[in-house]
Amino acid sequence: MEALAAFGGVASTSSSLGRFTAKTTGDSYYTQNPISRFSRKPHLSAFPSNSQLFSLNPSHSNVKTLIRRSSTKPGIFLPHLVASLEQIEETYIMVKPDGVQRGFVGEIISRFEKKGFKLKGLKLFQCSKELAEEHYKDLKEKPFFPKLVDYITSGPVVCMAWEGVGVVASARKLIGSTNPLQAEPGTIRGDLAVQTGRNIVHGSDSPENGKREIALWFKEGELVEWTPAQAPWLRE
Ligand code: RTP
Ligand code: MG
Repeated sequence: MEALAAFGGVASTSSSLGRFTAKTTGDSYYTQNPISRFSRKPHLSAFPSNSQLFSLNPSHSNVKTLIRRSSTKPGIFLPHLVASLEQIEETYIMVKPDGVQRGFVGEIISRFEKKGFKLKGLKLFQCSKELAEEHYKDLKEKPFFPKLVDYITSGPVVCMAWEGVGVVASARKLIGSTNPLQAEPGTIRGDLAVQTGRNIVHGSDSPENGKREIALWFKEGELVEWTPAQAPWLRE
């Protein structure tokens, strides 16, 4: 939402929208900075339209041209634009039975909380054989598959849904390599485990699998939409 607030205001030529190069000649500003299309929609902003943060200098001749053009062009729906800039992802993280038995539930949750991702779902759960097989179906042909299913069903797991920009790849980095002996110190597996078959935590390997796995492990009503109080202190 903070991104919406920022992008919904009158577009700035300053570095607050640093990924766009603000060129101030001819058509190039308009075409290279799609946010400029919303410069006439201050009602979409959480900030007052006369905010210093987002104000353009109206005396600048190119800005006048820009505003005139944006009033004649059809706009892009703002949430679609924001989504295309910074995709909010979901990932399924699971403390495996060894992680639960060894008392690492709090430690593992804490790593994701400290990083700044948003927890949307959390439960202790005894996984069935069918669910474990469905979850790891891509590995069905692997020789270790039966042992993997036994491992995942050997005791309760802790299921989590986490949300954030770039959360899928970042979670994989926080977790570390599949083989804990190859995982970097500082990662969960690098710090807390010694063997691939006991690597204490799972993380989705793509945004698509993140959605698939969350839908697999959580029922409707088990996920919560909320806004963390720290949100404005995590993302500008
Ligand atoms: P995960 O899906 O659990 O997050 O693990 P991963 O992506 O790092 O690794 P993946 O290739 O998806 O393997 C899934 C889990 O299967 C077990 N495994 N055992 N004995 C073996 O050679 C072997 N290889 C994989 C591990 O528990 C691995 O996390
Ligand atoms: Mg995997």
